[in-house]
Amino acid sequence: YQDPAPLDLKRYIREVPDFPKAGILFYDISTLIRNADAWQIATARLAESVLKFQPDMLAGIESRGFLTAAPLAMRLGCGFTMLRKPGKLPGETISHAYGLEYGHDELHLQVDAVRPGQRVVVLDDLLATGGTLAASVDLLRKAGAHVVGASVLIELAALKGREKLDVPVTSLLTYE
Ligand code: PRP
Ligand code: MG
Repeated sequence: YQDPAPLDLKRYIREVPDFPKAGILFYDISTLIRNADAWQIATARLAESVLKFQPDMLAGIESRGFLTAAPLAMRLGCGFTMLRKPGKLPGETISHAYGLEYGHDELHLQVDAVRPGQRVVVLDDLLATGGTLAASVDLLRKAGAHVVGASVLIELAALKGREKLDVPVTSLLTYE
């Protein structure tokens, strides 16, 4: 897909105050992926930054990270592996509990999700405190991956999530 003219993707992100709880400003990608052109352009731009990491495999974080990562994997000719919430993956898994901007959660990964040394880029829709991505990087490494980068659509810079990560991070849209 050719990016015809600079399109301000922020126009497609809906900002919802006090969701999921008071004081949190929620950046809603529903309004972006609802628009075929906006989603296509976002995916194309993300693909460009992810390609630089030369990945063999992409990893997506349930659930909004699946929307971000799966179209990219198809496009870049990479396999796709899922980091999932508890109780969803069959077979032997490894897990990591972590804190979220609102609440806490736990992610699982199948022990055989990646081949040793595979170059993996992990994707999510949004980087806030960084807890979710840090847990994902940790799990992928435990499974033997060489995690070469992390990419997100949206970064909330004020929360300094990227400081929690020891891999290069790229983001398409930054909010202060
Ligand atoms: C949101 C978002 C990121 C994460 C970012 O996911 O999609 O995955 O929080 O927060 P952090 O950087 O502070 O860890 P959420 O757990 O709300 O679930 P969802 O993707 O299933 O909607
Ligand atoms: Mg999420």
